[in-house]
Amino acid sequence: MAKIIEMNHPLIKHKLTFIRDKNTGAKEFRELVKEVSMLMAYEVTRSLPLKEIEIETPVSKTKSQVIAGKKLGIVPILRAGLGMVDGMLNLLPAAKVGHVGLYRDPETLKPVEYYCKLPTDVKERDLIVLDPMLATGGSASAAIGFLKDRGATNIKLMCLIASPEGIKVVNEDHPDVDIYVASIDEKLNDHAYIVPGLGDAGDRLFGTK
Ligand code: PRP
Ligand code: URA
Repeated sequence: MAKIIEMNHPLIKHKLTFIRDKNTGAKEFRELVKEVSMLMAYEVTRSLPLKEIEIETPVSKTKSQVIAGKKLGIVPILRAGLGMVDGMLNLLPAAKVGHVGLYRDPETLKPVEYYCKLPTDVKERDLIVLDPMLATGGSASAAIGFLKDRGATNIKLMCLIASPEGIKVVNEDHPDVDIYVASIDEKLNDHAYIVPGLGDAGDRLFGTK
């Protein structure tokens, strides 16, 4: 069964408070989402394998560790996942970026796909799917399904805020996918918005609405 990892770092908790605040404007919101994503990247990459290489310091030869194993790919779910890309790339500059375009139909609340462009070697990469919000779980579950259809086998999901309902859906649909989340909130409201949440992540990032 997959792991659910909720962040407990004070910096993440602090920044998330201001991300949630409705008085935080788009510029500050974007900066905070980027910063929290960077802090979460540290946790998401905790289990990456290492290997020893030999180097020479100015003083002596030594063996030292570098990241080994498969290459990484990050896959933001459009639009709001885009806000998390730069923070991840700050720590993982060699990662390739794929994009999955999905929006949630306001009537049916089901995800509708409109774009999918992935690195050609997606099968050989460990993938981290990015989306600030895991609400009903429909979008994340569908995005992970697209990646699996295209041969991906090692996938993690990273979100800022998740509902218990969304976690359950992704867990049931994809029991192999670990979920990293800055906060697990209380519930969904009647419009499938996360409570207390942060509102509409895409609108707040891009100033639409
Ligand atoms: C938001 C969010 C997730 C989705 C979560 O995107 O970024 O992708 O809703 O909801 P779910 O778990 O119930 O599927 P939205 O559909 O609003 O599209 P946008 O990012 O383009 O604004
Ligand atoms: N999408 C959002 O952007 N926010 C929510 O609370 C739920 C879905």
